[in-house]
Amino acid sequence: MTVFKKAGVIGWPISHSKSPLIHGYWLDKQGLSGTYEAIPIKPEDLEKEVAKLKQDGFCGFNVTVPHKQAIMPLLSTISADAKRIGAVNTVIIRPDGSTEGRNTDAFGFIENLKEGAKNFDFQKGPAIVLGAGGAARAVVHALGLEGASEIRIVNRTLARAQELASAFPGTKAYGWGHLPNLMQDAALLINTTSLGMKSQPELDIDLAPLPTAALVHDIVYAPLNTRLLTEAQKRGNPTVTGIGMLLHQARPAFEAWFGILPVVDENLRAKVLA
Ligand code: ATR
Repeated sequence: MTVFKKAGVIGWPISHSKSPLIHGYWLDKQGLSGTYEAIPIKPEDLEKEVAKLKQDGFCGFNVTVPHKQAIMPLLSTISADAKRIGAVNTVIIRPDGSTEGRNTDAFGFIENLKEGAKNFDFQKGPAIVLGAGGAARAVVHALGLEGASEIRIVNRTLARAQELASAFPGTKAYGWGHLPNLMQDAALLINTTSLGMKSQPELDIDLAPLPTAALVHDIVYAPLNTRLLTEAQKRGNPTVTGIGMLLHQARPAFEAWFGILPVVDENLRAKVLA
């Protein structure tokens, strides 16, 4: 008989989260006994509500906006990846009540990129990361792990790009105006900003200087085919959409709680996109 396990995702607001759908799909598919629920927690209630999850016998939970950093001081230990990224998106609660924070976003980013662009060579040329927020941090960390030859962080607010670059030796920070020059020899262009997302302004850049062999990746997945990706496709650049990052980042969390590393199949992809 399998043990009944409870997991979930905490955030505020949380009703938009796709995580219950993803983990619920895998629980069903694997025939496991357990639940995964969306748990709304206001910022001011975080400590109290996390203590409650422990008391209620949860084996862990995902963490989303606005708790990814605030959760860190409440945990017993933090993985090296999460420390480096400066945020936790997965918490494991052990039977003795101790807690471990991890971050699976870098894993999700890399798995998605490798799935979407088979045999991509991270040493082929410079990578441009647009944005310097939390998502950019995970992406820059992941690119570093893959041995990317040069990482150029480009952000509207230069100071934020510089702050990120100073945390990751070997990366360089630039203001938006440098983008045309920086694109000329780039092998990879990644949007980590919120631009192009539903109800946000479009990401409006002229791709003309970018080599047509460069891979263009948008971590925005709603809409799936952002303007950046459609413009890139029009000129023949290979592209990777963002939905796989969301799906793949969930896999190591599911494994940590339920003991099986699940796969991302077409059925799951279709359900999340529907
Ligand atoms: P996340 O954690 O999802 O990365 P974030 O920390 O709020 O979110 O970061 C959002 C990113 O999108 C930042 O790089 C932000 O640029 P600034 O640092 O200059 O704010 C970028 N961004 C958001 N709106 C933008 C806009 N209208 N033009 C250019 N960049 C924008």
